[in-house]
Amino acid sequence: MSFKVHQRFCFSLLLVAILLVFVEGEGENITCDVFNGTWVVDQSYPLYNASICPFIGKEFDCVKNGRPDQLYLKYRWQPHACSLSSFDGQNFLEKLKGKTIMFVGDSLSKNHWLSLLCMIHSSVPSARYSVKTSMVDDMTTYTFMDYEMKVMYHHSLYLVDIVEEKIGRVLKLDSITSGKLWLGADYLVFNTWHWWPRRGPTQPFDFIQDGDKVLKDMDRVVAFGKAIDTWGRWVDENIDPVKSKVFFQGISPTHYNGAGWGEPRAEACLGQKEPVPGDKYPGAMPAALAVLENELKTIKKPVTLLNITTLSLLRKDGHPSKYGLNWKTGMDCSHWCLAGVPDAWSVLLYNLMF
Ligand SMILES: *[C@@H]1O[C@H](CO)[C@@H](O)[C@H](O)[C@H]1NC(C)=O
Ligand SMILES: *[C@@H]1O[C@H](CO)[C@@H](O)[C@H](O)[C@H]1NC(C)=O
Ligand SMILES: *[C@@H]1O[C@H](CO)[C@@H](O)[C@H](O)[C@H]1NC(C)=O
Ligand SMILES: *[C@@H]1O[C@H](CO)[C@@H](O)[C@H](O)[C@H]1NC(C)=O
Repeated sequence: MSFKVHQRFCFSLLLVAILLVFVEGEGENITCDVFNGTWVVDQSYPLYNASICPFIGKEFDCVKNGRPDQLYLKYRWQPHACSLSSFDGQNFLEKLKGKTIMFVGDSLSKNHWLSLLCMIHSSVPSARYSVKTSMVDDMTTYTFMDYEMKVMYHHSLYLVDIVEEKIGRVLKLDSITSGKLWLGADYLVFNTWHWWPRRGPTQPFDFIQDGDKVLKDMDRVVAFGKAIDTWGRWVDENIDPVKSKVFFQGISPTHYNGAGWGEPRAEACLGQKEPVPGDKYPGAMPAALAVLENELKTIKKPVTLLNITTLSLLRKDGHPSKYGLNWKTGMDCSHWCLAGVPDAWSVLLYNLMF
């Protein structure tokens, strides 16, 4: 008991100390919008060599898959109004001692999760780790043993449920049973969007259930909004903000249409070697972003939006193109090469976590 009180006292002191450092260090920059800025060449980049990162997924390892140009590896995100702390893996492991960070979402979450793992490994190559995969839960956990720290990924395409019923597979916009797997994580980073517009043979459901109605199809941006609403209610009912900090990774954009950046004849993102200069993307923002922002406003518990859409839109050069998993047949302008754009998301996350 007295130990606990002592601990709490120390913790308060620590908080005060951190606040002072914050106020002193940042001065008038407290309101800096870290998502407003430009990409600058930094010769110290990339933050890691993918070929010696034991966590890298083959689908993201563009250098190994034969991508010939290298300039895309050299860009660092620079906000206009302030500077970001650089990622310190040792500090990250110490701050998260005994804690869990979990990424939940589609393969863009996997992209982000592996970026963070490679960055930790590059800072602290000697950190021992173990891996555990649960097929039933579609979850992979890396544990850094010396820190009892877990970095987890729960693969979930829509966050809400898909249930096998007599009529077929039903996407249930009101139901979120896998939320039980997320309880207890100290940091949660959610994302979903990329699978919502998908139709045809790879669409993994046959019907959409919205309240009492079971529909063959509906507007997918609207459906996405309803799912985010369900997720927001889950957050309000289940998250204890003292214990858990919740992030939404935001809408990661694609680059299949060069008209978006003024090159209508471009073959999607293939051969793009540099970002769009400046801080504004000439093309449209994904429709899902406005829906997401409106839904996030209705959530009562604190949720931080990693507002990565514009900064990622600028990176038409950041995708695997034909140097991804399906290099023989596919053109991937949706995921991101590692090292690359998700490392900036990880740096931003690091800056917002502490
Ligand atoms: C980004 O910052 C610039 C300069 O500080 C400002 O002019 C611009 O309006 C900002 N953009 C957004 C989207 O906030
Ligand atoms: C990355 O590591 C590989 C294997 O050790 C090495 O051959 C390569 O030169 C390294 N790349 C860079 C850019 O350092
Ligand atoms: C705060 O902003 C000013 C100019 O806006 C800049 O010169 C200074 O470096 C910034 N401070 C930090 C800590 O980023
Ligand atoms: C996210 O960024 C976009 C521009 O990139 C901006 O229009 C929007 O207001 C930002 N949203 C939030 C919640 O900060």
